Amino acid sequence: MLQIHDKVFEPYITKQKLSNAVESIANKIALDCKNETPLFLGVLNGSFMFCSDLLKAYKTPCEISFIKLASYQQTKSTGKVNQLIGLNEDLTNRTVIVVEDIIDTGNTLEKIVALLKQTSAKEVKIATLFLKPTVYNKDIKIDYTGLEIPNRFILGYGMDYDGLGRNLDEVYVLKD
Ligand code: IMP
Repeated sequence: MLQIHDKVFEPYITKQKLSNAVESIANKIALDCKNETPLFLGVLNGSFMFCSDLLKAYKTPCEISFIKLASYQQTKSTGKVNQLIGLNEDLTNRTVIVVEDIIDTGNTLEKIVALLKQTSAKEVKIATLFLKPTVYNKDIKIDYTGLEIPNRFILGYGMDYDGLGRNLDEVYVLKD
């Protein structure tokens, strides 16, 4: 058992299971990208640990960069505008692989994909370590999924609860 802030978490997914899932994603991407050098775009903060292990398991040429989704208020009438920060690469004709820690409703993913569609990337693919299929409600195809989980709150391996837990090397779940 693990106490974080006011909540109790219990072990859920072991290091071995995580590393099998990561390796399987890396192998699938490598097969699909045999003739190209993909640019992995890790979505911060949650995906940093997954990205690190994914890239170590990816044995052929690739590049990595990290992005963050930010939103700012433009004017009262135009409302909030989303923006990708950290994207300094020219994506022209690149195969881009967005790397997410977890996809829940898909709201974050939808905004990121919409912004990447405005670039000249050849292809934008999505890789996520975790997916909550019963909550995900978008039409965007998720190309690579590590593990599907029920609608429960998890933390560790990059994911946090109110800032804590990202450093845990296995995944824990909120105890009901
Ligand atoms: P979405 O926009 O609803 O798909 O949520 C995606 C983001 O919410 C992820 O990148 C995480 O930062 C966070 N998130 C969603 N579910 C969880 C969870 O179970 N644990 C920790 N963070 C989560």
